[in-house]
Amino acid sequence: MDFSILGQYVKCKLPGVPVWLAGIGMINMRRVTKSLLLAQIMFRNPPEFLDRLEAAVTSRLEKRIGRQFQYPAISATETIAKVRELFQGEVNLDEVEKLESDVVKRMQLLEGIAPFTTAHHADFSLARLCYILCRFLRPDIVVETGVAYGVTTAFILKALESNGKGNLHSVDLPPLGKNADKFVGYLVPEELKDRWVLHRGVSKRVFPELLPQLKKVDIFVHDSLHTYWNIRRELQLVTPYLSRPAIVIADDIQSNLAFQEWVLRTSPTTWWTFKEKDKDSVAGLAVFL
Ligand SMILES: C[S@@+](CC[C@H](N)C(=O)[O-])C[C@H]1O[C@@H](n2cnc3c(N)ncnc32)[C@H](O)[C@@H]1O
Repeated sequence: MDFSILGQYVKCKLPGVPVWLAGIGMINMRRVTKSLLLAQIMFRNPPEFLDRLEAAVTSRLEKRIGRQFQYPAISATETIAKVRELFQGEVNLDEVEKLESDVVKRMQLLEGIAPFTTAHHADFSLARLCYILCRFLRPDIVVETGVAYGVTTAFILKALESNGKGNLHSVDLPPLGKNADKFVGYLVPEELKDRWVLHRGVSKRVFPELLPQLKKVDIFVHDSLHTYWNIRRELQLVTPYLSRPAIVIADDIQSNLAFQEWVLRTSPTTWWTFKEKDKDSVAGLAVFL
């Protein structure tokens, strides 16, 4: 985020306040807003308050005492080539180019009104991969955790639309921010929302009810909270529901061993890890045939 722009804005409102000071003021305003929202949630929705507290505590704790893992990662381009080889086919990416430019335009509209950080946006290389996998596998049911403004959501829904079948169930507890709920999936074009069901809440609460209803999951995308305990729990909960064939993609796995432990336990037909194109993130992909 460009705090100098925010700073300029505050400076206009408060003449005499230097830009850098105004910028820091805006950061602190965000902190204050978050603290006030959290206090409201504590009274209105104690379970959600506890979920947010758990996320904050485990994230901080794992940053201090967790074990980083160096995954041997190939590139996103190599990953797409591998997927093409695996499914022995081609996917026309013309409509993805168009979607990507629409999403970029929507991202620009977000500037200045975004209630929570746009650093949540998934890398386009990951989003494209989600699209390609959905086109190859033609899933009935896709489940994803972590929507934020909805980059991966838009790409998955586009693929389902082109397939002419399938639904996406997304699970998301929005980041703290004023009217944050209204912005979840902001980047998803309206005409793609017919095949989309958004479940509000943390995966550990939503999954035990949702997964038995769905009965099976063809593609699972983890992109929520990337702590060891959360990745481990989501993968464990979804595994009994994975159909054959099925694909699992997990974003931002580099900070802990959860993905590695899970593949060793579940023995997918094939799996590998890859570095995203424009983000310093490693994602994992597992295929069950
Ligand atoms: C990295 S962002 C998702 C990015 C998104 N997939 C995209 O393509 O732009 C993570 C999102 O997951 C939400 N979240 C965090 N912990 C969660 C949990 N335990 N269950 C569900 N959603 C969670 C965050 O609030 C945020 O909206």
